[in-house]
Amino acid sequence: MQTTVPAVMPAIDRTSPFMELCGQRQSCRSFSDQPVAHETLLRVVEAARLAPSACNSQPWRFILVETPELVERIAPCGQVMGINGFLKEAKSILLILETPAKLAPVIASLIDGQHFAKGDVGGAALAACFAAAEQGLGSCIIGLFDRPKIREILELPPETKIDYFIALGYPKNIAVRAKSRKGLDELLTTV
Ligand SMILES: Cc1cc2nc3c(=O)[nH]c(=O)nc-3n(C[C@H](O)[C@H](O)[C@H](O)COP(=O)(O)O)c2cc1C
Repeated sequence: MQTTVPAVMPAIDRTSPFMELCGQRQSCRSFSDQPVAHETLLRVVEAARLAPSACNSQPWRFILVETPELVERIAPCGQVMGINGFLKEAKSILLILETPAKLAPVIASLIDGQHFAKGDVGGAALAACFAAAEQGLGSCIIGLFDRPKIREILELPPETKIDYFIALGYPKNIAVRAKSRKGLDELLTTV
């Protein structure tokens, strides 16, 4: 199939509030001491709650960790293999759990070999990050962490699937970095 997208793309209008938010959201790896209001964090979770999912299955649950002592114990669970030292500065941690999907998406996945719940949960995580960015809050999705340790700290049943956690807090540095992304010419085929 031939791509009709030119190597140099024409300028794309990025001036809408949403497109600006897409550019502003970035993974934050340095948080300030400023506390984050409970209401601000609830808006982050609300955005995740409104995310789409296969057959509206909503295969997620959220645990918002705000108690400083618990944040202090859970954040280091993402400091694996010598990375993610910045997590000790996080003011809150949002755990995104994957729960069993409804029957319809499970049947669809059996036919098509897709695991929709994983994608659904990823979409919810991204919605949470956008809601954080919209409120000036920094966020960083963490995928590699000590899941058994978090289950132990929060006394969660062993079958609890924690897909991601999101570190949250106000950024120390609000400068927006240039995005390192493949170009549309590499990613997009129009037919
Ligand atoms: C599933 C997932 C896991 C990630 N894990 C980490 C992580 O452990 N540490 C980290 O600093 N960033 C992590 N990130 C953030 C990515 O590195 C980041 O999204 C990517 O480099 C693009 O940069 P941006 O988010 O600033 O646009 C993760 C992102 C995703 C989606």
